[in-house]
Amino acid sequence: MDYFNYRGGELFAEEVPTSTIAERFGTPAYVYSRAALEQHYREYSEALAERDHLICYAVKANSNLAVLDVLARMGAGFDIVSAGELERVLRAGGDPGKVVFSGVGKQEWEMRRALEAGVRCFNVESETELDRLDTVAGELGVQAPVSLRVNPDVDAGTHPYISTGLKENKFGIDITEALAVYARAATLPNLVVKGVDCHIGSQLTSVSPFLDALDRVLELVDALSENDIHIEHLDMGGGLGVTYDDEEPPRPADYVRALDERIGDRKLELILEPGRSIAANAGIMLTRVELLKCTEHRNFAIVDAAMNDLIRPALYSAWQAIVPVQPHEGAEEKVWDLVGPVCETGDFLGKDRTMTLCPGDLLAVRSAGAYGFVMSSNYNTRNRPPELMVDGEQVHIVRRRETIEDQLAPENCLPE
Ligand code: LLP
Repeated sequence: MDYFNYRGGELFAEEVPTSTIAERFGTPAYVYSRAALEQHYREYSEALAERDHLICYAVKANSNLAVLDVLARMGAGFDIVSAGELERVLRAGGDPGKVVFSGVGKQEWEMRRALEAGVRCFNVESETELDRLDTVAGELGVQAPVSLRVNPDVDAGTHPYISTGLKENKFGIDITEALAVYARAATLPNLVVKGVDCHIGSQLTSVSPFLDALDRVLELVDALSENDIHIEHLDMGGGLGVTYDDEEPPRPADYVRALDERIGDRKLELILEPGRSIAANAGIMLTRVELLKCTEHRNFAIVDAAMNDLIRPALYSAWQAIVPVQPHEGAEEKVWDLVGPVCETGDFLGKDRTMTLCPGDLLAVRSAGAYGFVMSSNYNTRNRPPELMVDGEQVHIVRRRETIEDQLAPENCLPE
């Protein structure tokens, strides 16, 4: 469900006209809806209500403290991939006992910090990582809870850059070797085997790849149990897609029902790590048309947001809806490329968009709540945009706009 709707010829964020937000806080700006975040989280928690479960929101999708705060208040756990994300979760009031730590390259200091904080589980992605974790836990005199992330070799049918469950990807332990690695993990003194984990990719629009992966993982769980290694939880990762254009991804309820049917009466707590499906459609990015430049070949609308603010179109050729904040008929409809001011041909937010545009018009890039601000940069020494959270009629600044001073503060010239 979306909390960004037109009312009286203008796009609103919950109860607030987005033009008012742009006037008060400037553009470009990210705008999140608290109600949408809550609604998307609730869809998962309601779908999972009948079974033992933990929803670990994937912090990487949108790690703003206020986003984490909203979800922590609803009881969410968190999937982190760095010690930095752990600090964010703790700062936002998240419970470390509900945190799973994923990622192929955890450093020793990150493992130490996570063990000290008391995270719920480490999703271990290689045998060498298993040894490293065993050593670090031993030094601290604790036992580290582990799951092995297995690579089930299934095609998620999504963009190659965000597909992670194929043999040739860097992620996870080949499922055919997993039994042997589990047997070894069980012998390491400073580890306790808790679960099994997999994550096959992102923006999946059908349940079938998830079910293919699940079948293989369940086969492993059964084989482990025959070898006296008892798995307590099954972590299926994230990956459920969202509607950017006309995709019709399964709802969390359909997804969970399909998983449940396969899991049957096995006693497994189900962990999910949704990111995009909670955050993407809980956010928009507001931008203003600066200049129009019509050439013989193309019509360019140069807007004040760029690839440094939202890199998905440039990086993955991702399509995101771009809509007028106040639709009008003040000009001729044309086909536009919406481009930013950065010095790269790849700097576009959208191409071939048929719209009526005038300089000064406000636009909203939809579905920008996930992998938006978190992937932004200062390329071209551009200040990153503010992040605002709407809650009913209120607008909260949850990250102020950066300044040039912020950008220059960590740098130095050479000494005289
Ligand atoms: N768990 C693990 C281990 C992951 O690697 C990811 C995402 C998630 C959970 C969350 O997946 P989600 O529910 O959001 O699909 N920047 C790309 C997406 C990269 C996803 C990386 N891993 C994009 O903008 O499309």
